[in-house]
Amino acid sequence: MDKADHYFDQLAVTFNQQIYQSHKGQLRLMTQQRAILNYILKPSSVPLHFVDLGAGAGQICQWLASLGQTVSYVEPSDAMFSQGESLLQPMGVYCHQQSYQQWMRSQSQPVDVLMFNAVIEWLEQPKQALELARNFLKPGGYLVLMSYNRDALRMRRLMRGHWQQALADIPGDGTGLTPISLFSALDAKNWLEELGYHILDWRGVRTVTDWLPGQHELQELIELDQQLQTQDPWRQLGRYQHFVAQYWH
Ligand SMILES: C[S@@+](CC[C@H](N)C(=O)[O-])C[C@H]1O[C@@H](n2cnc3c(N)ncnc32)[C@H](O)[C@@H]1O
Repeated sequence: MDKADHYFDQLAVTFNQQIYQSHKGQLRLMTQQRAILNYILKPSSVPLHFVDLGAGAGQICQWLASLGQTVSYVEPSDAMFSQGESLLQPMGVYCHQQSYQQWMRSQSQPVDVLMFNAVIEWLEQPKQALELARNFLKPGGYLVLMSYNRDALRMRRLMRGHWQQALADIPGDGTGLTPISLFSALDAKNWLEELGYHILDWRGVRTVTDWLPGQHELQELIELDQQLQTQDPWRQLGRYQHFVAQYWH
């Protein structure tokens, strides 16, 4: 059901300020770029078609387009789309103001890479999006998934002393940046495997950087995150989980 999903009309400004105008945005983009460069883009490869579903203001699309990749930017919210379109259209990115479900209904050709970055936790049925995505990938096509980690939210609530709220896993009500669908790192990993995806890379984003006392330079945080983000248990404490998976029909 498209309409139960939470489009970021009211949250666009808060999200962009809290994430992309802080170190959090850089930590997120660095992790995504590292995973995409290591697992999808080979130095000699021809440009691939990346479709970013629920792409927000289009920051990762901008980076992919700057590398010469073919990029489709898909975002349903008016507030997000107007920002993303003005940034990306001049770069030759295909811009679609659609939900991912609308995009899938209008799509006939499979693509090389589908991305859901911090989107499925804002859907009423997160696993269904991963299930449907398989139909729109070429054989051996890639899914890039970044998802919010319920366990990192539990940890934050526990550290604030709100243990009953933490253990009840109370989801957001759509007025703030706590997602409406909460699931753990292992839930996301298990869903991908159950659906037949082959996971090539799994890493945490903001593994411990949110908990560090004091002020730190961005470069220090990037190095710390990079060192811990593929090691358990640190990976599974990351505020987000990042996967690159491949699907063979
Ligand atoms: C947390 S933001 C992430 C934006 C961007 N992917 C990023 O990582 O910066 C979640 C985005 O998902 C979008 N969204 C919510 N429901 C959606 C749906 N059914 N189809 C596509 N996008 C959706 C929201 O409008 C919002 O822009």
